[in-house]
Amino acid sequence: MKKSTKAIHAGAPHNSQFGEVSIPIYQTSTFSFPTAENGAARFAGTDGGYIYTRMANPTINALEENIAALENGYRGMATATGMAAITTVFLALLEKGAHIVSTDCVYGPTRVVLEGVFAKFGVESSFVDTSDLNQIRKALRSNTRVVYLETPSNPTIKLSDIRGAAAIARQHGALLVVDNTFASPYLQRPIEFGTDVVIHSLTKYLNGHSDVVGGMIVTQDEALYKRIKPVLNQFGGTMDPHQAWLVLRGVRTLPLRVERAQENASKLALFLKQHPMVTWVQYPGLPEHPQHELAKKQMDGFGAMISFGVKGGLEGGRILMNNVKLFTLAVSLGGVESLIEHPASMTHASMPKEGREQAGILDELVRLSPGCEDYEDLRDDLDQALNAIKRMANSNKVAEEELSTQQR
Ligand SMILES: Cc1ncc(COP(=O)(O)O)c(C=O)c1O
Repeated sequence: MKKSTKAIHAGAPHNSQFGEVSIPIYQTSTFSFPTAENGAARFAGTDGGYIYTRMANPTINALEENIAALENGYRGMATATGMAAITTVFLALLEKGAHIVSTDCVYGPTRVVLEGVFAKFGVESSFVDTSDLNQIRKALRSNTRVVYLETPSNPTIKLSDIRGAAAIARQHGALLVVDNTFASPYLQRPIEFGTDVVIHSLTKYLNGHSDVVGGMIVTQDEALYKRIKPVLNQFGGTMDPHQAWLVLRGVRTLPLRVERAQENASKLALFLKQHPMVTWVQYPGLPEHPQHELAKKQMDGFGAMISFGVKGGLEGGRILMNNVKLFTLAVSLGGVESLIEHPASMTHASMPKEGREQAGILDELVRLSPGCEDYEDLRDDLDQALNAIKRMANSNKVAEEELSTQQR
């Protein structure tokens, strides 16, 4: 099956009782055993029946099957949120004295949980620019167990070479874990390049309607599945059946939504590039993007996320965000509606300023998640909001001074 067919058919009901086309929501916490012997057999694993929803549930399984098929992986494990997927994988693959090498500009809480929580239990972490394979090589230690990539990264939209990182990790005896949230399996399937574990925040493109939070872990083999699944069951970051059903409904239109959002993003990137109030644009589809060639090799498209620098720095960004009318000022991404946010004061505010700037998350950086509206409406909204910076600068002394400094 090809990917659009999988998005619609993988995980579809196998044994439908009434001919249902959509998987029912099995909204039950527990499952009855026909006999005591059968109950014992289910716990012993000799009968495949369900026991308890924290461990497995048919609606959740349908979603796990769907995403694992899209990722070309062995099996999926659905989690309550993307962060639950990330922390479950860390809990399963890292131990006291272990070391992890991670992309420096990862989703803020991913870094915070490693530095603030896992560090307490003796896990060491290094954050490097993984778009440079040499930096990964240099950061490896004898106790490195995991190399962790977020590609494209949030919010700097840098790409890391998955095949190259997988070879380095394998040679060192470490595992490669990739957060594939920004690309979605429609555009990038890290397991095809040697990744061991793929993580998603389903909250983004896979669900796509900004109405559910959720996460997914997909492993490339059975051994890793068996290592991670018990940790998920015991720590309990499991998904709810209704949540799974909503995400499954979203996934059905993933190809259509991603194609549309990507088309809007590529046009907006060109528009922003020539706008007088914009200092730089980071979008993998632009030939000047440092990893434009890599994007062509490991992605099926350039994605829909854009970051750009706005004239007037922090103040310029504030004016821009207060003046958009169609773009919604909100964190998150990957929904049908277009969102705008300011990472330094929002998603990445939990990172220390120094680390944030080292990772390229500058105060002037604005992140866009174009959705599926008409391009012309999105363009006109950004245009009028960007022009408001200039207008406001004329009536605001502080902003004007900042602006003229930037323009010099
Ligand atoms: C790249 C990335 N990974 C993980 C997460 C965490 O996902 P969730 O918010 O579903 O816990 C996010 C959330 O924004 C994200 O952008």
